[in-house]
Formats: sequence, C-alpha cells, structure tokens
Amino acid sequence: MCKQFIEDGYDVVVSDLREDAANAVAVKLDSSGERVFAVAIDVGSTQSVDTGVEAVISRFGRLDVLVNNAGNFRQRWTKSCSDEDWRFITNVHLDGAFRCCRAAFPHLKKSPYPTVISIASIAARIGLPGRLSYSVSKAGLEALTRTLAVEWAPENIRVVAVAPGFTKTQNRVFVDGKEVTHEAFEQAVPMKRMGRPEEQAAVVVFLASRKASYINGQTIIVDGGATIDLRI
Ligand SMILES: NC(=O)c1ccc[n+]([C@@H]2O[C@H](COP(=O)([O-])OP(=O)(O)OC[C@H]3O[C@@H](n4cnc5c(N)ncnc54)[C@H](O)[C@@H]3O)[C@@H](O)[C@H]2O)c1
Repeated sequence: MCKQFIEDGYDVVVSDLREDAANAVAVKLDSSGERVFAVAIDVGSTQSVDTGVEAVISRFGRLDVLVNNAGNFRQRWTKSCSDEDWRFITNVHLDGAFRCCRAAFPHLKKSPYPTVISIASIAARIGLPGRLSYSVSKAGLEALTRTLAVEWAPENIRVVAVAPGFTKTQNRVFVDGKEVTHEAFEQAVPMKRMGRPEEQAAVVVFLASRKASYINGQTIIVDGGATIDLRI
C-alpha cells in the first residue's frame, strides 16, 4: 500500500508497532526520507496513537488519508477464549481503528480530499470457527465505516473499507497449533489462488483517489470470489 501511494504521488507515513519494521520499509521506499516518515505507534494505546498522529502533523503538517490496517491474530475456540484473548484481538483491530479515526479527525477535516480506509475481512461475512473475536472486530469495522461515513459527511470526509480474502502476506494462520497452508486457502477460492498484497493495495489507493469520489460508507470485497462460492 505504501509503495502504491508513493507511486500515486502521496507522501507516506509508515507506521507499525515495531519501529525497526517501520524504519526498514520507509528506507526501502525512499532512502532520502523526503517523502516517507516512519513512526512507531501501538494502536492498542490511546496515548501512543495521539502522540503518533501529532508526530505525523509535525513532520508533514497535514493528514489526507488514514488507512486502518494494523492487525494480529490468535485462534481460539470460544469455549476456551479468555477475556484477555478477546481483548488482544478487538483492542487492535476495532478499538485501534476507532482511536486512529478519533485522533485523525481534526486534521482530516482540514484536508481538501480526506478519506478513511479500514482493512476489514471476509471473516465478517462468513463463519470462521475459532475466529470469533477477529470476525466480530471486522464486522465492527464495517459498522464503524457506515456510521462515520454519515457522521463525517458534513466535513467532506469519505469513510470506506476493503475486505480482503485470503492474501499472501507475512501473516500465518494456525488452527489448533497447525498452520493452515497456502494450498488449503487456494482450494477455498474459485480462482484457485490467494490474493496478492498489491491487488488489495490497488483498491485502497483507488478508494483514496478522486476517481472514487462518490463511494462512501461501503466495504469493497476483494476476495477472488471466495464469499460467493455457493455450491449446491
Ligand atoms: N492476509 C490476509 O489473508 C488478510 C485477509 C483479510 C484481512 N486481512 C487484514 O489485513 C490487515 C493486514 O494484515 P497482514 O496480512 O498484512 O498481516 P501482517 O501480520 O503481515 O501485518 C499486520 C501488521 O500490524 C502490525 N501490528 C500488530 N499489532 C499492532 C499494534 N498494536 N499497533 C500497530 N501495529 C500493529 C504488525 O506489526 C504487522 O506489521 C490486517 O488488519 C488483517 O486482519 C488480512
């Protein structure tokens, strides 16, 4: 996503819980550091988000696009899911997006073309056993998208989401300690392949662009057809 935003002419903030990871990506994107700023933010902490957004404003003086992408994963069967397990997921995926939206709002409303894009998941649309807190968080992100789209329309801020299907990232999924293989994911998709990160990024960058000027409050599914594969 950062790469495609740079190519589209944006200055980019690379933000991650892990400072080393954010820095490594930033250097790769623009070694001069002119168009890229790396900042460590823990979206699980209000203080970290607020401080991080202020650092962004100090560096670039504005904020036009917010992408809520931070994520983690922990498979748990509901009968043995502790409160801590539940919060581990929801505090990042859902509460984290809320915190980022709230902190970004005063800056977004000054932008000539502001957009919020949250990365949801097809997990909100299908039943994935052992992933209740994740699925509920992603469904919550869709609701956040619809509600803020209405609440912030007077400020001209568009709020949208992308729901990826199975995408080949560094993310690894374990069920009962056993890793779900890429082959298993591929078989679950009509196109018989996983998505590529750049295929998600292309939709995100499009949604931020003026070409998407009338798309608001929607969640766009990018899943190779996985959620429509009804076989009878
Ligand atoms: N890969 C998929 O198949 C897939 C499918 C649907 C949705 N998604 C969603 O896409 C997003 C990106 O996932 P990914 O596959 O690239 O996973 P990933 O694990 O490669 O990336 C997630 C990133 O979030 C960061 N992060 C974790 N906790 C954080 C915190 N508290 N504060 C800030 N950053 C934090 C991690 O350090 C990591 O860099 C996630 O929201 C995920 O739920 C992924």
